[in-house]
Amino acid sequence: MSSTNALPPVIAIDGPSASGKGTVAQRVAGLLGYHYLDSGALYRLVAVAAKRAGVAWDDEPALAPIAASLEARFDGDEIYLNDALVTAAVRSEEAGAGASKVAVWPAVRAGLLARQKAFRLAPGLVADGRDMATVVFPDANLKIFLTADVVTRAERRHKQLIAKGMSANITILLQDLQVRDERDSQRSEAPLRKTNDAILLDTTHLTIEAAVEFVMARYKVVTKVP
Ligand code: DC
Repeated sequence: MSSTNALPPVIAIDGPSASGKGTVAQRVAGLLGYHYLDSGALYRLVAVAAKRAGVAWDDEPALAPIAASLEARFDGDEIYLNDALVTAAVRSEEAGAGASKVAVWPAVRAGLLARQKAFRLAPGLVADGRDMATVVFPDANLKIFLTADVVTRAERRHKQLIAKGMSANITILLQDLQVRDERDSQRSEAPLRKTNDAILLDTTHLTIEAAVEFVMARYKVVTKVP
């Protein structure tokens, strides 16, 4: 960065559910020694916190203060809400569906905005979500739109759940992904979309390692590191 008061660099990785963007973002952050923002986890936390408070996922006025005052803490892979461990609840399919529902509300998105921007700390940040490049970090140094065919994504999610010892039905997973894709990309506020300056990375036929290498190579070009 040339100027002394320049903000730390950001790599924005946006894409649909189960595309692998979280894994890729986390690995790139690890390789660079950068911070990592899993913005989807914040929307999932709002859905979990709302459910625990008896607030419906379509009650925008009641969801707004929950989003704005979320007492959440990330510690490695673990997630805490009001000091209670909620990792499994946050990672559940139910929380994913709830997150997609609460995320349509402008007041919820506004309530989470400053919290997301606060992750931009030295030496840099890798942020993944749906609107990292469009809304939260429009000045990101590198923007990646990471996607994969929906059937491939359903198969990957199925494998993950089975590996965790959970039961999963691929037909239902596929339907759920299609519903979420539709809602996340058709909503009026901050819909999932690729910006013109984002690089498309289709991982349908790529390993995670290859996707990570691709992002690292593009970042080296941007930062002019040899
Ligand atoms: O990435 P994920 O599956 O954990 O995200 C869960 C939901 O949260 C997703 O379906 C839509 C919403 N979301 C969002 O609207 N904006 C983001 N930046 C991240 C997630």
